[in-house]
Parts: sequence; C-alpha cells; structure tokens
Amino acid sequence: MVTAKIAPSLLSSDFARLADECERMLTLGADYLHMDIMDGHFVPNLTLGAPIIKSLRPHTKGFLDCHLMVSNPEQWVDDFADAGADLFCFHYEATNNAAVLIDKIHAKGMKAGMAIKPNTPIDVAFEFCPKLDQVLVMTVEPGFGGQAFMPDCMQKVRELRKRFPDLDIEVDGGLDPENIEVAAEAGANVIVAGSSIFKAKSPGDVILLFRKVVSE
Ligand code: DX5
Ligand code: ZN
Repeated sequence: MVTAKIAPSLLSSDFARLADECERMLTLGADYLHMDIMDGHFVPNLTLGAPIIKSLRPHTKGFLDCHLMVSNPEQWVDDFADAGADLFCFHYEATNNAAVLIDKIHAKGMKAGMAIKPNTPIDVAFEFCPKLDQVLVMTVEPGFGGQAFMPDCMQKVRELRKRFPDLDIEVDGGLDPENIEVAAEAGANVIVAGSSIFKAKSPGDVILLFRKVVSE
C-alpha cells in the first residue's frame, strides 16, 4: 500500500528566501521538497543546479526530490549526490541508457526516479519500474509552473498503478484542489504542486486537502 506524499514545487517560491520557504512548507505538512532543475536545453527555461542544492542542504532536513529537466542527466549524478539530493529524477527522453543511469544513481546513495513527458507512452517505463523508487508522470509539458493540468495523462497513471500497486507514482503540473480527485482516483500518490500551494491564501489547507483526497 502506498502512502500520500505532498511535494510543494519550490519553483513557485521566493528563491531569494529558499531555505525559509522550504521550512515553511515542511511546517505546513509537506513530505517532500520538489526542486525543479532546468538547463535551458532539454526545456526552454533555466532554473538552478547542484550548487544551490548544496547551499540549501545544511538548512533543511526535508527530503529533496530533485526533478532534472536536463539533457545528459548522467553528467550530474555525482554533483547532486555530493550536494545532498535525496532523490534524482531524470527524464526518460533525455537518456539512451536508463538502466545504467538508475544503477549509477543508486550507487551514489540516492533514490532513483524517472519522469515521462505527456507525449511519451507509459509502456516505455514498465521494464525499469522494478528498479525505480518513483515514476513521475508529467501532467504538463515540462519547463514552466502555472500551466493547465492535462487530464489525458491520467490513463498512463491508471495503467502504471494496475501493474505496480506498490510503486510511488508522482504527478507534476497543474495539480490543484479541482483536479486532485481525478489524479488520486487514477492512482497517483506523490503530488507535486507549485502555483496551487504557493498562491493559496492558506497553503497548509491545500496540502491537507491533497493528503486527505489521496489517502481516501
Ligand atoms: C514544470 C515543473 C513543475 C512545476 C509545477 O516543468 O516540473 O514541478 O513547478 O508547477 P505548477 O504546480 O504550478 O504546475
Ligand atoms: Zn517538477
């Protein structure tokens, strides 16, 4: 049985106060801190890299769920491990050898996640699932916060959940109090949300609601 894990995306936070924003989210009940790493090549946006994770690490005990939207993810495994990342999630579309990469991530002491873009069929993930700690089914095109949730991606979550009842299945992009039930019903248990948490009047209530719906 999988448990609900709520992962606020710090992409929607005030980067100038990153450590405080992380602590605020944990105090409000977050399970994971979702860090969006973008290289301006795999996606048309540029955010942060291992040096920021390294600076942040001494300031938080939170689980750093690092989502690497980068080309050549192999290049960054050592740096993210040294920086103190807890989970290294690469994109299936960015590598030619996911199996070797998963082993490399584990050998460096991190959990391994694999992300799938909206147009990538889910069956490409099946062979890797027994080795993976988490699969991330993107519900927007990666690159930016604040986009609309794509409900069509829920079929992929359903198929994955049917085959892997114990797998952590993360959804990321446009999740909010309106669509959380659809995502939870499909079988997602790790919920990433940037805008809907950080822009809420009461972010803690949104985290609480997500957890309640996923746990039902
Ligand atoms: C998008 C990122 C997401 C993003 C989610 O490429 O992977 O994590 O921050 O933000 P919202 O919840 O605003 O769609
Ligand atoms: Zn993300």
